Amino acid sequence: MIELNSRLRNLFDALLEFFVITSFSNIGYIVRHRLFKWSEFANKSFDGKCILITGSTSGIGLRLAEYLASKDAKLILIGRDSKKTNSVVDDLIEKTNNTDISFFIADMGNLEDVRRMATKIKNQYNSLDILVHNAGSVVNIPSTSPQGIETTVASQLIGPFLLTNLMLGLLKNSNDPRVITVSSGGMYTEPLNVNSLNEQSSLSDKNQPYNGLKRYAVVKRAQVSINSIWAERIIDERIKFYCMHPGWVTTPGLELHMPTFSRYLRLLLRNLDQGIDTLLWLISSSESSLTSSGDFWHDRKIRTSHRLKSTKVAETNDERTKLWNFCVEKMNY
Ligand SMILES: NC(=O)c1ccc[n+]([C@@H]2O[C@H](COP(=O)([O-])OP(=O)(O)OC[C@H]3O[C@@H](n4cnc5c(N)ncnc54)[C@H](OP(=O)(O)O)[C@@H]3O)[C@@H](O)[C@H]2O)c1
Repeated sequence: MIELNSRLRNLFDALLEFFVITSFSNIGYIVRHRLFKWSEFANKSFDGKCILITGSTSGIGLRLAEYLASKDAKLILIGRDSKKTNSVVDDLIEKTNNTDISFFIADMGNLEDVRRMATKIKNQYNSLDILVHNAGSVVNIPSTSPQGIETTVASQLIGPFLLTNLMLGLLKNSNDPRVITVSSGGMYTEPLNVNSLNEQSSLSDKNQPYNGLKRYAVVKRAQVSINSIWAERIIDERIKFYCMHPGWVTTPGLELHMPTFSRYLRLLLRNLDQGIDTLLWLISSSESSLTSSGDFWHDRKIRTSHRLKSTKVAETNDERTKLWNFCVEKMNY
């Protein structure tokens, strides 16, 4: 009987997953929460866990930082604007009385910033339990980083790739190290295409004008791929890699970059607590399913990383090797 119930629940979950709108909206969260009787995080201990979060000055990253600060985690917060980051940290300390919060300034697209910041972190900390690559936004005007890499690629692929590399020493000193990347369901629309990552402004079709949203999806796809390649290549297999989709979440970023979408789907968007649920799950859970590494997660479950046949066939071993080599080359520009 229990077997049947669990099968039915999984069937219902698969049905929700089949339709993007039911899976990514708050419907997915609410139904799955009830269906699987999700445990709350109130009783979980984050006490003393050392967690680094990029993009912690707004939206999902800020809410995650607030929640973890209130649970006595040791936080390393990364922001790109010193005044804004300073004020966020002051607010967090005041609200939560957690003084174990430090912050560092880096634009994740500027590799010099990332290197400088990593050196400071390594001087101050001996180990790191969780590295959360959350920083990211749509870049509407074509531009390049100080190292000449297209901005979306630099800030959401190469900068995080470099930071992971620079943090490996600290992660190895943790008992249960995890690297979590916040990608997006938007990546389902794009194949892995390393040549398009390499272009400075437009995507593969030179006749098409630059499209920031498309560029974002291309890079979000690359995040999912590099996460699974990390899991294959990492020598210290204790370090687990997870990539996740938070669902459609009301954040300043979503409202700014997708105003029409935000307005029309207002009632279906997840709130911030719903948006950070799977992140908290991946940070805190000791479930056996979490022994796997390199997967794409949404609503506390591993999900397919391809919904379209065209994107699946494009992700060949050669293309994946090309992606890894591309990241290594750009990281060492
Ligand atoms: N909201 C959604 O529905 C949704 C859906 C799927 C995936 N996501 C992903 O969730 C993550 C968080 O997005 P959000 O919706 O919370 O957006 P948000 O409110 O705009 O927050 C984005 C955060 O990233 C930081 N950031 C952006 N570019 C950066 C850079 N180059 N260097 C350093 N920090 C940078 C921002 O800093 P500033 O405060 O200085 O701008 C901010 O703290 C992103 O990776 C996004 O792709 C969101």
